[in-house]
Amino acid sequence: MANYKLIHFDKISSTQTYAHELIANGTATDGTVIVADSQISGYGRYGRKWISNTGNLYVSFIYKMENRNPKLSYAVAVAVAEALIHFGVKPKIKWPNDILIDGKKNSGILIEYSGDFVIIGIGVNIKSNPKLSEYETAKLIDYTDVDKDKFLSILMKKLEIWLYADFTIIRSKWTELATGLNEFVKYRGTVAQLIGINEDGALVLRIGSEYVTKYGDEISF
Ligand code: BTN
Repeated sequence: MANYKLIHFDKISSTQTYAHELIANGTATDGTVIVADSQISGYGRYGRKWISNTGNLYVSFIYKMENRNPKLSYAVAVAVAEALIHFGVKPKIKWPNDILIDGKKNSGILIEYSGDFVIIGIGVNIKSNPKLSEYETAKLIDYTDVDKDKFLSILMKKLEIWLYADFTIIRSKWTELATGLNEFVKYRGTVAQLIGINEDGALVLRIGSEYVTKYGDEISF
């Protein structure tokens, strides 16, 4: 289990960028947690902007990890989803790790590797949600009364469970919480049936009569 050390900022460029800096200057330790009330340049997957106004949760966890682990993103997704369930909401996971409430994105997870570490960035819309043209968003306050500190403490407990769980259990929980299984989705412009994830953490799709496995990337419904 990680020995947590929490660093808090009222405002920062990005908790994720700060984590990269700590690793680069040799001061990062396993279990460093960077949390900020707001971010000026928060970012998500594919370098997309993550709008980061006060009231929501913006956190990056640093863990020692020498090798990439394709299963990690599922463990984190399940941990975030379970934290939401703890507060009485019913989230769904859109492959690989977007967390939706009523089909609208509530939380985002960004996993980046640097040196011997992995940085797990998590953003949860609690008090506000940005209006975006790409997809709909949801905020927690519309479903339950929770503040970001309470949410963070439950999230940390859930991460402690799921980061160290056996992948068979993670996969089964992820599958239980996943949205769109067996539905037809778009993967890189091709229509494919979403089958699930395999024991190695790869996405399994059926394209025509062929089953294919993929890592990374995105699907759209
Ligand atoms: C995504 O869905 O694209 C992932 C979004 C991740 C956002 C979080 S907020 C905390 C951390 N700091 C960042 O700049 N990004 C991540």
